[in-house]
Amino acid sequence: MSLLARDAASMQALGEHLAGFLQAGDILLLAGELGAGKTTLAQGLARGLGAASVVTSPTFVLLIEHESRLAPLLHLDAYRLEGLSYEEARQAGLEEFFARRDAVRLIEWPSMIPDWVAAFCAPDSTWRIAIEHEGAARRLQVLAPPAREPSLPNSLQEWSA
Ligand SMILES: Nc1ncnc2c1ncn2[C@@H]1O[C@H](COP(=O)(O)OP(=O)(O)O)[C@@H](O)[C@H]1O
Ligand SMILES: [Mg+2]
Repeated sequence: MSLLARDAASMQALGEHLAGFLQAGDILLLAGELGAGKTTLAQGLARGLGAASVVTSPTFVLLIEHESRLAPLLHLDAYRLEGLSYEEARQAGLEEFFARRDAVRLIEWPSMIPDWVAAFCAPDSTWRIAIEHEGAARRLQVLAPPAREPSLPNSLQEWSA
């Protein structure tokens, strides 16, 4: 599904809406260059989940856990994991992260850990979201887990363009 968020507030509101479709165990892959709006979308998702704390960019902290109403929210920024060996990535906490099926898991920069994504992101629980600039706005390509795809378009009409 292709969506348009015209500004940061619209991006957060979209995240809040999408949160209503999430389940514990879901993984959201947020792809896009620096400045695309990944963290902004994550902030909306967290708000929609009823997170107790505010989401910031975890670039300098690998992983942040937020308590929330639905399930714990784990926010991983994989940017600095590029090129790590399996053992190094495991020691950095990736294995534990992917074992947390009790949580909703957000990954910024999934392209930095392709082997882990291929191994652990099952289609029935993985959302693939790619964000790109479109003028001053942002275009999002959203690929939802198949079972949840049918209910999405109606509720996201505000962003369809
Ligand atoms: N849909 C949007 N339209 C315009 N600007 C946006 C949008 N979403 C986010 N921004 C702005 O883009 C900048 C980068 O956002 P951020 O979420 O930090 O990106 P990333 O985490 O991908 O590096 C911020 O100033 C943010 O307010
Ligand atoms: Mg970010």
